[in-house]
This record gives sequence, C-alpha cells and structure tokens, in this order.
Amino acid sequence: MDITLAVSPPLGHPCPALIVGCFETAADSAHFAEMDEALAGIPGELYRLGEFSGKQNTVKLLHTFGRIPADRVLLVGLGKRRDADLDRLRHAAGTAMQALRMTGIKEIASTLHLNAAGMEEGIQAVAEGFLLGGYEFSAYKTDLPTLAQVQTATLLLAGPEEQARCEPAVRRVRTIAEAVLFCRDLVSQPGNVATPSYLAERAMEMAGRTGLECHILDREELERNGMEALLAVSRGSKQAPKFITLEYRGGAQDDRPVVIVGKGVTFDSGGISLKPREGMERMKDDMAGGAAVLGTMMAVAGLGLPCNVVGLVPAAENLPDGGAYKPGDIIRSMAGKTIEVVNTDAEGRMLLCDALHYAHRYRPAALIDLATLTGACVVALGPFASGLMGNDEGLKRALKKAGEASGERLWELPLWEEYGELMKSDVADLKNAGGPAAGTISAGWFLSRFAEKMKWAHLDIAGTAWEEKGRGYLPKGATGVGVRLLVEFLRGISRGK
Ligand code: BES
Ligand code: MN
Ligand code: ZN
Repeated sequence: MDITLAVSPPLGHPCPALIVGCFETAADSAHFAEMDEALAGIPGELYRLGEFSGKQNTVKLLHTFGRIPADRVLLVGLGKRRDADLDRLRHAAGTAMQALRMTGIKEIASTLHLNAAGMEEGIQAVAEGFLLGGYEFSAYKTDLPTLAQVQTATLLLAGPEEQARCEPAVRRVRTIAEAVLFCRDLVSQPGNVATPSYLAERAMEMAGRTGLECHILDREELERNGMEALLAVSRGSKQAPKFITLEYRGGAQDDRPVVIVGKGVTFDSGGISLKPREGMERMKDDMAGGAAVLGTMMAVAGLGLPCNVVGLVPAAENLPDGGAYKPGDIIRSMAGKTIEVVNTDAEGRMLLCDALHYAHRYRPAALIDLATLTGACVVALGPFASGLMGNDEGLKRALKKAGEASGERLWELPLWEEYGELMKSDVADLKNAGGPAAGTISAGWFLSRFAEKMKWAHLDIAGTAWEEKGRGYLPKGATGVGVRLLVEFLRGISRGK
C-alpha cells in the first residue's frame, strides 16, 4: 500500500471512501459539523440513536448517495478528546484499515490527521497506522479471496505549503514501516522455513539492497571465538547456528556505535527441559528480537541517519536430541565465566551472553539487547509494555522517551544486586536459571554480568512481540516491536549531533 498527500477539501474530494475521525463528543472532532450538514445530519443521528458512539477503535461505514463526491464515509472512533494522543490516532488508522479489509475498496482518502495537535505528527501517526494496520501475512494461503486490499491512502491537506512540509515525514514513515513489515514477515515465518541459515540469508540480501556491511559467522568461527554458550544451545538441532553482524556507518569515523543485539532462537522447544505441548507453536517467534535488529538496521540505512550502528543476531534452534546440552552441564562462555545449566529452556540468555561479550570489540556508546526472554514478563506486563532493565540511567531514560513517542512502551524493573542471589551456582560462576521468583529480573541480572562496564539496556519483548487478538495497527500475529522504538531512539541520538 502507498500513502500520498493531496491538497483537496475533504467534502469536495471524490474517492471510494473518506475516513473521518470522531471523538465521543462529536462536537470535539475536526470538521464534524460540516460533514454532518453535508450528509443531511445522518452522522449526528447515529450518535443520538447510539449506533455509533465515537468510542476508540469502533467504526461505521456509510454510503453518501451522492451528497458529497466521496462514495462512502467511514467514521472511526477516537475515544474521549481528553485522552487523545498519537498512539490512539495510530490505532484508529489501523482500525480503519482492518475494517476495510475484504470490502474491495482500493482507494481511500483521510482526514484523521486533522485530529492531532500538530500537522506533521498527525500525518506521521496516521500514515504509520494505515501501513501497519493493513498488514497480513498470507504467504501460505493458497485460497486467498480475490478482493483487493486498499492500495492507496491519500491524506488530505489544506494547502501546498503544508504538503511540502509534510512530504519528508511521509517518506520517513514509508521507510520505517517497510522495515517493520520486513521484521513481521521474518517473525511470521514458521520454524521449518526461518532457520538460522534463513535469517542469515535474509540479512545478507537486505544488506546488499541497503548498502550495509554484513558478515555471517558460522560454526567454525563461533568455535574459534569460544562462543560455547551459543554453541551449546545449537547442539540439539540439525540446523547450524549462525551469528549475524551488520554494520552501518552514517556517523564520523571515530564515533562510537550503538550496538543492538537480538535473540534469534528460530524455534524454542525448551530442549531437554521440554516445554509443555500446549501453545508450543508460538515459539517460532522466539527470534523476534533478532528480526527487530534486522528491521532496525534496514530502517537506519534507508533513512541515512548520521550515526554508527551495529546489529548482532546470535541465531540457533533449541531442540532436544542426543547431542543436546543438558541440565547439569557446565559451559564456559566466551567471556570466560562458567555457567551451570539448570534449565535448557533458559537458552536465550546463553546466546545473548556470548553476543553481549562479543560487542566489547565495537567499544559501544550504548549496547541494547531485545529478546523474547521470559514468560514471567508476559505475566507481569502483558502485551502492553516491554520490560526494561539496564545499568545506565541516561540510556534508560532515552529509551523510555522513544517508547512513549513510538507507542512501543517500556516499563522498568529493578536490577538490584540482591537479585544476583537467585543466580548463584554451587559449582560454576553462575547458573542459567533462578527459581520462579522474579523470572524477568533474574534473566536481566544474568545478562548484566556480561554487559560489564558497557552502557547497556535490556528489553524483554516476550509479551509484545506477538499480538494474540489483533487491535488497531497491530493485526493478529507478529507486531514488529522494537523497530519503531529503536529507530526513534537512534533518531533522537542523531538529532543531538
Ligand atoms: N522464549 C522463552 C520465553 C517466552 C515464553 C516467550 C512465553 C514468550 C512466551 C524463553 O526461552 C524461556 O523459555 N524462558 C523460560 C526461562 C525459565 C526456564 C528460567 C521461561 O520463561 O519459562
Ligand atoms: Mn526457552
Ligand atoms: Zn526462548
């Protein structure tokens, strides 16, 4: 789908469907009165009859019977005016796209952005909502209905100055949304397709297209580097592990890079500590952190941000077989710290600890990892926020700010030293899993030992990487979480330059 801008009065604009945002109190909505008048009072009557209330993410499709040049009007609820924010607008745009799916409507025009405080930010939020809300992963549907999806969304503006001012924002949103959808596609791919080698190939291909430098470390190189924690996880699988590195140079030669690391477990059965069968199919998304890193690198290159960024994705499949690592095994990580494996299902931190240690060589200005790391995080925060931990207040603050701006919110958990008690081993430096208490924090604490003195933050995206129900701009399935957050964070850094 494409987004275009046009200078045209909404009530004089011919199109198959005009999208109009409506607050719960109709009078609060931009241009509601004029539209109501042009449509013979029908929208107002719907409010009075309770057939449409303006509640967030509700819709009502009306035919105009020639009263205005648009064939139809889609009213989209924006909720209460006093709760209005950019993420609600983004969700409203996504809801509109989902409502139009299967209607056969190919072109829409929209005035949704007029309900934001600022023109550019409104345009950006609505364009994001349309592009992300219209997504569907249909690669394996062989009986797709023939009804076309919406192909063009035109955002209507009052004058050519506005259009000139908003054009760069639209270009930026296109680039970012494409990267989010790239990430969603990777996460949606099943485990039999999206293996570590597949991720490596997609990364290489994407790097070729965007001008990033990409290297793939294979098993021999991992062995040479002593990345035994990553290798241990891979040993139960016939799929070879891969370690993907991507480098983007948009900053000065001597600018220290931001290094982002993503967990790339292409399927997590739990290994010898096998997971229960119920819902195990979901564990194909256990590489969502890695996919977010690939997506972020793609966006950063596309935007040409003036900073240096490195992406690292340790990738492996966690399966049980005769070669698999076992509870009780003691593994020497690349950092030299020994790890007692008490649960082979705590595999993410094994991969990540070697990747975090590997990051030392880039002398990062900041190190950020993303991982679908703990079920405990799903319990704590659900699908509405990712967990945040780290050792640097400034970095955490900047990430939280990017979280608010992007709608990919973060909630901080403490990493007090006391939590280290949970991870003490009798026979090794650390064990890889604590008990049931503070599962998200003990995982974060484990990683902190490997981040050492680097400025580091950890994002647990276990609850946010996959949307179970589908809402607004997050259709059911992979969300692509992390890409918009990190791009926003990196844009913030770039602005400071
Ligand atoms: N990939 C899982 C975490 C997960 C669980 C993500 C549910 C999304 C939904 C991770 O590898 C895992 O299995 N973690 C264990 C850790 C435990 C053994 C210490 C968990 O959360 O149970
Ligand atoms: Mn696991
Ligand atoms: Zn996992």
